[in-house]
Amino acid sequence: MSTHSGPQRTILTIFGTRPEAIKLFPLVHALDADDRFDSRVLVTGQHRGMLDQVLEIAGITPHDDLDVMQPDQTLDALTARLLTGIGEVMNRVQPDYVVVQGDTATAMCGALAAYYRKVPVCHVEAGLRSGDIYHPWPEEVNRKVIGSFAALHCAPTEVSQNALLRENIDPSIVHVTGNTVIDALHWITAKVEAEPALASGLADVEARFAGKKIIGMTSHRRENFGDGMRAIADAVKRIAARDDVAIIFPVHLNPNVRAVMNDELAGMDNVALLEPLDYPHFARLLDISHLMLTDSGGVQEEAPALGKPVLVMRETTERPEGVDAGTARLVGTDADTIVTEVTRLLDDPAAYAAMAQAHNPFGDGHSAQRIADLLAPN
Ligand code: UD1
Ligand code: UDP
Repeated sequence: MSTHSGPQRTILTIFGTRPEAIKLFPLVHALDADDRFDSRVLVTGQHRGMLDQVLEIAGITPHDDLDVMQPDQTLDALTARLLTGIGEVMNRVQPDYVVVQGDTATAMCGALAAYYRKVPVCHVEAGLRSGDIYHPWPEEVNRKVIGSFAALHCAPTEVSQNALLRENIDPSIVHVTGNTVIDALHWITAKVEAEPALASGLADVEARFAGKKIIGMTSHRRENFGDGMRAIADAVKRIAARDDVAIIFPVHLNPNVRAVMNDELAGMDNVALLEPLDYPHFARLLDISHLMLTDSGGVQEEAPALGKPVLVMRETTERPEGVDAGTARLVGTDADTIVTEVTRLLDDPAAYAAMAQAHNPFGDGHSAQRIADLLAPN
């Protein structure tokens, strides 16, 4: 688009973790291609390796990088580093609008720093609510903080729109845009179709597990650290005792996850513990998986879009759309329940068929352009 002749709007898009990067790269692409905007990207580096994987595949070179990550960082120290670092960049960039996504510490601090400067905030993936401030923790409060003062709420679905309206947010600033994760999934699928080598790195593990039903797995939730993680590992061990299944588990870099999973699962015949996969390879994992077992937010959106049953190892979800559509099921973190639910899907073809249906309540792949249009100067 290059027909705009008026003043440009300076948009500062802020992100720091893998899922934010995945869900914001389509918007950065849209803003960069549109001369109504001077598009600036600030990454906080809340994640390092897992963020850089996404920046690389999406071809984004940030204007600023705070590089805040510390090993096993605490929420309070992380928050302090983020807030001061983001504020300094804002003082220099003087944005007209700040964009944040979701519910991470980076998103909350980005929004707060903008508010301290009376800069309007656009909240992408607004209105997700579990109704429980400790599940997910601290994300439920992070997103409520952002939602309490955002100038523009981009709700992925009507469910999230309604949650915001119930909190008395002015309806004129709430828009159903779809979730940009679907834009990202379409983009990566097309890219891998054009360049299959981008996702060929799983060939060895695919050969090792030929003929078995693959369970794709991820786990990283803070509220599951300790007993929850150990129960999840115990369930995986029991499932992997079957010789007709294999579990492919790219392990999150959080040391609280890695310590438990390496201790409990390393060296098992039917379990492949991998390093975090880049997005093309994770898309490949989704593709080859019979079902997904996860506590991730994003995977709850991607799996239904691809017709992959997803068992969610959480007590509640802020994404009821997948559950309502029948593709997602909450299984919590009790080992017996996880084993029972996985076994049911493996052994009961009718139960499997009922869940393995493509549903895409989360978007049509055009969310980023909708958000860009909402951000444009009049
Ligand atoms: C964060 C977000 C969470 C999001 C998740 C996505 C907060 C409070 N949490 O949780 O909402 O769902 O990211 O993955 O914002 N680490 C690395 N390299 C990396 C990434 C992480 O080594 O690339 C390790 C570091 O030791 C780091 C630790 O993981 O200190 C925790 O990272 P942090 O961002 O604080 O928490 P996550 O559990 O990743
Ligand atoms: N993902 C990835 N590689 C992996 C695991 C996940 O690229 O090894 C992607 C996945 O496709 C999804 C996102 O990361 O888009 C989810 O991130 P995560 O589970 O870390 O965070 P959450 O969505 O729970 O906030």
